Amino acid sequence: MSQWIGTANQGYSPYAIEELRRLLPEVKVSQLVAGEIFRFDTVLTEEETVATIQNNRPTFLRHMQPIDESIPLRGDADDLQALSEYIRGAGSVLSDKHVSIHVRKAKSTSFSYSTADTKGALDAVLGNLNAELVFQQPDFIIAIFAGESTLDVGIGKPSDMLSDWPGGAVRFQREEGQISRAKFKLLEAEREFGLNYASYRRALDVGAAPGGWTSLLLERGLQVTAIDPGDMHPSLQGHPSLTYLKKNASDVKFERGKFDLLVCDMSWSPMQMCRLVLDLEPALAPHATAVVTVKLMHKKPLQTIREVKERLSTSFIIEQSRQLFHNREEITLHLIKK
Ligand SMILES: C[S@@+](CC[C@H](N)C(=O)[O-])C[C@H]1O[C@@H](n2cnc3c(N)ncnc32)[C@H](O)[C@@H]1O
Repeated sequence: MSQWIGTANQGYSPYAIEELRRLLPEVKVSQLVAGEIFRFDTVLTEEETVATIQNNRPTFLRHMQPIDESIPLRGDADDLQALSEYIRGAGSVLSDKHVSIHVRKAKSTSFSYSTADTKGALDAVLGNLNAELVFQQPDFIIAIFAGESTLDVGIGKPSDMLSDWPGGAVRFQREEGQISRAKFKLLEAEREFGLNYASYRRALDVGAAPGGWTSLLLERGLQVTAIDPGDMHPSLQGHPSLTYLKKNASDVKFERGKFDLLVCDMSWSPMQMCRLVLDLEPALAPHATAVVTVKLMHKKPLQTIREVKERLSTSFIIEQSRQLFHNREEITLHLIKK
């Protein structure tokens, strides 16, 4: 038996739960934050659950944390004391390790301490365990979810929680002059799919305007061909590595095998997107990478995703299908040309 807290993007937890029910035996679910955070219990052990989910990574489950202990909340200083005592007792695995502490709180919780106060209290315990509190690249995470009446606490490796960010909410610094928030999607895709855009040479950006994705690829040193009937941001005009085609993507043709990276972020129906990507496929080199967003336009996302994967799999290997933290009503696919 193991108990977990699962997190999806706001409004998408029903789909994450549906995916988990298909994946794990005898899943029992209760809601913690409507549409977003839920508890799930399974008959599998923690190790079995992690292995099953890592081998069949769901699209909508953004983060999971084990519940090793549920501490009843009293709403006073004893709560922090009880948490410290639990970590002191259970924390031998943390000895000599780099440890991060993630705190998330439901709106209705009676746990009254801030994240800073909680970390401050646990830092002393970590000191006694000879563990070091770090903000990045921890060996272990202490994940704390303060619900209405309990503190649910779990200790695990970042990979076992599917993310090294609290709740899988990956944050990037907004830069001066950043063209669009869309840039964060492509940055997150690079991180989550283990890509390195700088390792590619020529990219085709379909649905490129106003140019957030294009600007990132240019920063990474790629030659970029951007297609969009809409205007690109003035800051990109005249960039020596940019070719901008102010056109509908269905009206362009390229020489065979020209690009080793395709990125596509059109706000279009999924099936039209598939047709367009498949039409452009000859312009990609063998084993080229594609990063493509899929709009979830109607009420059956799991079916839409299944259909899109089926269509694209004629020419691409579907490496990953994920709703990233920066995706709104969409998901992102990582594809490799066959
Ligand atoms: C969400 S925006 C893209 C944002 C962009 N990734 C960025 O980082 O700034 C979607 C774009 O797709 C473009 N688009 C929609 N249909 C298209 C088509 N058939 N051919 C080319 N571009 C298209 C729209 O004009 C729009 O600019």
